Amino acid sequence: MTLRILLVAPSADAVSRQSGRLPPRTEAMQIATQVGGIAELSSAILRDEVDLAVAEIPNVSDADLSLIEATLSSHPRVTLILVCDDSSSEFLLRAMRAGIREIVLPGSPADALARAFERQLERHAAALGPVRKARTIAFLSAKGGGGATFLATNLGFALAARERRVALFDLNLQFGDAALFVSDQRPTRSVADVAREIQRLDPAFLEANMMHPRPNYCVLPAPETPDRAIDVRPETIERLLAVARARYDFVLFDVGRVLDKVTVRALDEVDTVYVVVQSTLPYLHNARRLIGVLTGLGYDREKVKVILNRYVKTDEIGVSEIQKTLGFDVVLQIPNSYANVAYSINHGVPLHEYAARDPVARSLTDLAESMAPAPEARRGWLRGVLGGR
Ligand SMILES: Nc1ncnc2c1ncn2[C@@H]1O[C@H](COP(=O)(O)OP(=O)(O)OP(=O)(O)O)[C@@H](O)[C@H]1O
Ligand SMILES: [Mg+2]
Repeated sequence: MTLRILLVAPSADAVSRQSGRLPPRTEAMQIATQVGGIAELSSAILRDEVDLAVAEIPNVSDADLSLIEATLSSHPRVTLILVCDDSSSEFLLRAMRAGIREIVLPGSPADALARAFERQLERHAAALGPVRKARTIAFLSAKGGGGATFLATNLGFALAARERRVALFDLNLQFGDAALFVSDQRPTRSVADVAREIQRLDPAFLEANMMHPRPNYCVLPAPETPDRAIDVRPETIERLLAVARARYDFVLFDVGRVLDKVTVRALDEVDTVYVVVQSTLPYLHNARRLIGVLTGLGYDREKVKVILNRYVKTDEIGVSEIQKTLGFDVVLQIPNSYANVAYSINHGVPLHEYAARDPVARSLTDLAESMAPAPEARRGWLRGVLGGR
């Protein structure tokens, strides 16, 4: 993820002087400059345009400090380095309380600003961990009980088993049950809790609120009661994705079958929408309408993909008829395997661990393999066992 840096100073000359005192730029930095003072700095932070700011403000008033404090408390991840000429201990204390990380005085050694800057860069790097760029996928059921939750949660397990970092968000806000599919523990926090404290959202806060069915598989459950859904807004989804994209290799959404402002925002944002259907008339009827809505939202044909779940070759309605009806290819057929799938769900264990040879488990493993090839180390081990062939 690029670190967005803002340099603020009272004049263009001062901005360029400040810029000259900073260490060399790297590709991971995106530097913007702004002539102005506290007001300009604060609005840039509130517009969510800044990760790290260096602001030269010659005379910082009490009102200025109050504005900085309010701004930084709503955006606690932003780092502010202030260049100012007040060195009284009273001011320094007040500035630190306002959330300012470093203060550099005009009389400081020439490299003081560069050193403060480097210290804060290191802090950011440590907080973020290695930067990733997640592939984002939503699962939509054409009709209740289609299998969206089972497929999303178990794909999550299968991707995590391939040593990828996976996050799953349950956006079935009224009656979401993804937590049950991944664990026998009762969840304590939900997407509504995170939404209510969205100003605190950063990678650490997000993970602290998630369930961890595996160390590298994190699930943010739906609210316990339907009335809590109201706390989740479209902006919540944007913020969640902004944080999750950089921390995980895969971000999965269980969207269920409700299309509203929140779920549509998630659908807008993701790379792929899987529509889960079964080969009966009511599913196809609903799937056709659903795909009509997705096309109406302007999604590319490549973004929308149809999965046919619980398919048995002897089903009266065959794959080609389904494809003709929907006007989309079926990209994946998942067989029917009632007993094993029911066991996996009832016990919150991944199907591929409980019954690796089950045909449904194999389909999901193949899907995971197509998205996330098995890590090289394991392949090497396998090659060794097979005698290097
Ligand atoms: N491939 C499969 N083989 C056998 N049973 C399956 C399969 N996929 C799903 N099921 C069964 O279908 C039921 C419904 O699945 P799931 O809850 O994942 O559907 P959903 O689309 O999320 O439904 P909802 O609309 O309630 O969110 C599960 O309890 C499971 O028993
Ligand atoms: Mg579901």
